[in-house]
Amino acid sequence: MRRLVAGNWKMNGLSADLVEIGQLRTAAPPECELVVCPPATLIARMAQMAAGSHIAIGAQDCHWAEKGAHTGDVSAPMLADAGATHVILGHSERRSDHGERSETVALKARAAQLSGLTTIICVGETEAERDAGRALEVVLSQLAESVPAPCIVDKLVVAYEPVWAIGTGRVPLQDDIAAMHAALREALCEGFEAAGAEIRILYGGSVKPGNAAEIFALPEVNGGLIGGASLTAADFGAIASA
Ligand code: PGA
Repeated sequence: MRRLVAGNWKMNGLSADLVEIGQLRTAAPPECELVVCPPATLIARMAQMAAGSHIAIGAQDCHWAEKGAHTGDVSAPMLADAGATHVILGHSERRSDHGERSETVALKARAAQLSGLTTIICVGETEAERDAGRALEVVLSQLAESVPAPCIVDKLVVAYEPVWAIGTGRVPLQDDIAAMHAALREALCEGFEAAGAEIRILYGGSVKPGNAAEIFALPEVNGGLIGGASLTAADFGAIASA
């Protein structure tokens, strides 16, 4: 299985930051599939800069409708038209900032897959849910409800991102990451049989150049979704190399 490392720029990045993509072309190893997800305003220009390289460009969200009266939203066909090949959906910041529910994530994912985009669907428990012993149950139900039906399985990537690990510098124990990834794999294989074994399951939440090698050494982890450390080519390249 080819590893995938995706960078989520979140609401960061102006024209001046496009230089990072030029640098990433040399800083990141070609063996690993790399995706950079800038804000929507930079997608088209970044896609032009990355053309012909091993770097793909993704978005951070999309609407479920193809077009229409949805002020401020961006549709999946628009993202594909701008040069995006991937889209992150159901990130915890969208779930908390915009009240996005798993059912909505599934609608968006269906639209995105039909537009040819690879969907990176995020799931993860809050700290209170983990403390209450409910992490597994919460994450598995998010997965069941967020994955579209029908699903184009080769356009599905899952990212396990514990909410309490995002942007905090805190990372779960190796055993806890491995256990959650194994549970996700089991659910995917139950749902998609043999094809479920080929779906990449990424870990996200405070992955840095200093801890990436340890996390990626877990056989259950097929890559990473990187926030803060994806903003510079030096850090993101180092994580991809790990
Ligand atoms: P972080 O964010 O790497 O800054 O913790 C990860 C994410 O939100 O995808």
